[in-house]
Amino acid sequence: MSTLLSLEGVQAYYGAAHILHNLSLQISSGERVALIGRNGVGKTTVVNTILGLAQKKQGIIHFGTKAVSQPRIYVAAQHGIAVVPQGRRIIENLSVEENLLLGAAVGRKGPWSAKEVYKLFPILQERAHTPGTALSGGQQQMLAVGRALMANPSLILLDEPTEGLAPVIVDQLAETFNQVAAQGTALLLIEQNMSIVVRVARRYLAMAKGSIVVEGEVINSKEGLKTLEAHVMV
Ligand SMILES: Nc1ncnc2c1ncn2[C@@H]1O[C@H](COP(=O)(O)OP(=O)(O)OP(=O)(O)O)[C@@H](O)[C@H]1O
Ligand SMILES: [Mg+2]
Repeated sequence: MSTLLSLEGVQAYYGAAHILHNLSLQISSGERVALIGRNGVGKTTVVNTILGLAQKKQGIIHFGTKAVSQPRIYVAAQHGIAVVPQGRRIIENLSVEENLLLGAAVGRKGPWSAKEVYKLFPILQERAHTPGTALSGGQQQMLAVGRALMANPSLILLDEPTEGLAPVIVDQLAETFNQVAAQGTALLLIEQNMSIVVRVARRYLAMAKGSIVVEGEVINSKEGLKTLEAHVMV
């Protein structure tokens, strides 16, 4: 298995605020990894550091085999790392289809096209020409996932994709993530909903105060769920 992404000893900041402390993680091709932890521990900051939106002052980041001293959104995209950002970030004033096509801007070749995304989420085709932000929360999340797939990524970073969604939509997304992973795309699933973690992830990294404090195998059982929930209780 080849490494798609690695962070080693990363210290990351917003201005003077030191958020990530000596953080290391590694994701190999086809892996399904969950990054968990309660509000404010720094989960989104991990994504932001990978995208260059938080400032890395020390540590080494690799995209594939390439050491990247100054990560940027487009550099991640060029290396096959796509993001479904927290809060979805659907672009206002663009239609569903235009939002979707934005994901293809990086021009990587692969199995995903608008046609394939529409097969996965038929509702997006039905609403292709309506403004993206006119969709329901669940539909906007599907659009955000579709937009990431359009980049034909080898790894998708999903930042709390089920936040605020109805259980039936969460179930549908869990199924979609499993389908995408079964096709070989690696997932880093950031979640506070452990019922989706046990269904999708195989390995977990638990964060506290800007560091990874526990790692382990995800076990899809009552006990496994309890173990994970202990890391996100507020
Ligand atoms: N732009 C910013 N400038 C300064 N501090 C920030 C900024 N964004 C986040 N923080 C702080 O960094 C810390 C980590 O935030 P982060 O958003 O990474 O947490 P999180 O684990 O993703 O939380 P949540 O589960 O609520 O999304 C928090 O203390 C937060 O207040
Ligand atoms: Mg967050």
